[in-house]
Amino acid sequence: MTQSDPSLSARLEREARFHDAKYGEGEKTPRHYATAPTQYVYERMRDMLGDLRGRRVLEYGCGEGWITRDLARMGAAVSAFDISPQALEKTRDVLGPELAGRCQLGVMPAETLVYPADSFDLAVGFAIIHHLDLPRALAELHRVLKPGGVAYFAEPLATNPAIQLYRRLTPQFRTADERPLVLAELPQLLSAFSRFEHREYYLTALGALLLAYVPGGMRLFPSFSRTLHRVDRAWLDRMPSLGRWAWYSIIRIVK
Ligand SMILES: C[S@@+](CC[C@H](N)C(=O)[O-])C[C@H]1O[C@@H](n2cnc3c(N)ncnc32)[C@H](O)[C@@H]1O
Repeated sequence: MTQSDPSLSARLEREARFHDAKYGEGEKTPRHYATAPTQYVYERMRDMLGDLRGRRVLEYGCGEGWITRDLARMGAAVSAFDISPQALEKTRDVLGPELAGRCQLGVMPAETLVYPADSFDLAVGFAIIHHLDLPRALAELHRVLKPGGVAYFAEPLATNPAIQLYRRLTPQFRTADERPLVLAELPQLLSAFSRFEHREYYLTALGALLLAYVPGGMRLFPSFSRTLHRVDRAWLDRMPSLGRWAWYSIIRIVK
């Protein structure tokens, strides 16, 4: 991974090493991971993507490849990349020979993409933005999207107090350079794009994750969580400014 900027190079090396270790050795995850805590927001983003048949889709930070597999199954011609070679190994395994033909995989940083300008109809990324040197990565996104192309990113936010505390208590799950997204910074970061909008998720619904720590709580999780998501939608639709206290946002960006 050769970069002209030594500090970016060092940062990318650290990210690659951290994620290689995570995907290679596996990581001891906290109990609430058993609830698949981010599945809800992932499904909302997937529903937004529309008909992908015949569309050229770029996936950012594919990790273990479960989104890559969904995109391929939805009929997209997928180009997926990640900075971690181990992630790409996992993605290859998840795709299997049947879907591999529809996916082009690459080890590369989002800050310097190898794709030609105006290549993609759509870009998709889940929990990747906070790992990136955003000004550089967004300039690359702008370059590789076709005119009118759209990007969707689902991203944890910096401003939820419970998550801020959790992050402080669990430094072992974070890389040294990651920086969660602040919604207020989006207008400046995305000024080169023609427009963007965002929608937030998990205000009270975060509370449902505590059930993972209560005996018998996992059985109650699905219905409790569904109810809280309904409450959140009602509040967030009426008062979008509450979004800064949410855990996740889905950002839609149009070139
Ligand atoms: C939190 S994981 C999310 C993975 C996957 N999207 C998912 O939801 O399971 C972040 C991913 O971003 C990758 N990553 C970190 N920095 C990157 C960069 N600068 N360019 C490309 N990928 C990067 C990591 O290797 C890791 O796989």
